[in-house]
Amino acid sequence: MDGNGRWAKERGWPRSRGHFEGAKAVRECMQGCLDLGVEFLTLYAFSKDNWQRPKEEVETLMGLLKRFLKEYTREMKQHGVRVQAIGRLWELPKDCQEQLQGAIRTTAHNTRLTTILAINYSGRGEIIDAIKQVLADVEDGRLQKEQLDPEIFQRYLYTSRWPDPDLLIRTSGEMRVSDFLLWQVSYTEFFSLQKYWPDFTREDMRLAVEAYMKRQRRYGGV
Ligand code: FPP
Repeated sequence: MDGNGRWAKERGWPRSRGHFEGAKAVRECMQGCLDLGVEFLTLYAFSKDNWQRPKEEVETLMGLLKRFLKEYTREMKQHGVRVQAIGRLWELPKDCQEQLQGAIRTTAHNTRLTTILAINYSGRGEIIDAIKQVLADVEDGRLQKEQLDPEIFQRYLYTSRWPDPDLLIRTSGEMRVSDFLLWQVSYTEFFSLQKYWPDFTREDMRLAVEAYMKRQRRYGGV
């Protein structure tokens, strides 16, 4: 969700204002998914590397996340949104973990749109965590080394229950992967738009999905 900072800077406002508006765009984005029948949405809300930002900005982001979950969980429940999360969640502040677990519990039975929040997430970290589990299972005899293949390996990822993403949308014209779902994006289609994230609307989601539907996916074949 790139460009919150730049969006605010252009208006002479603090970065926190950009994040605040960015949280509103999350709601728009989810509405776009609901309108279009998209079943899974993963939002990169806070990367492991985002801890390097100034303390006040990290606090703003954690506060926004809590506030978003507090204010929107009921609405998400009503609209059939199921909240899930990936990342090293156990390293998050306790109150943030509690708010998140509350939203996950409250929306657990919804099936229309699964919204997965990537928080304190790192694609490389996820692969390392998976490898540690694989090694433990091999050591304990639950897995034979020879059995390991991509299908088995993906069961050890945080995302094991969900399909790989079909489409990855990046705002602010960025063309980087930035440590996001590194294993899962092997055959994902990319869509980059110039707008900053706070300006993202449900109409942008429609345009992205329309562009995706025109792509020819060959998965390495012809
Ligand atoms: C990237 O823009 C954005 C983030 C690191 C934070 C994203 C968080 C939110 C949109 C709000 C909370 C999230 C949810 C799910 C409610 P940037 O700050 O790097 O902007 P810049 O590239 O212009 O500096």
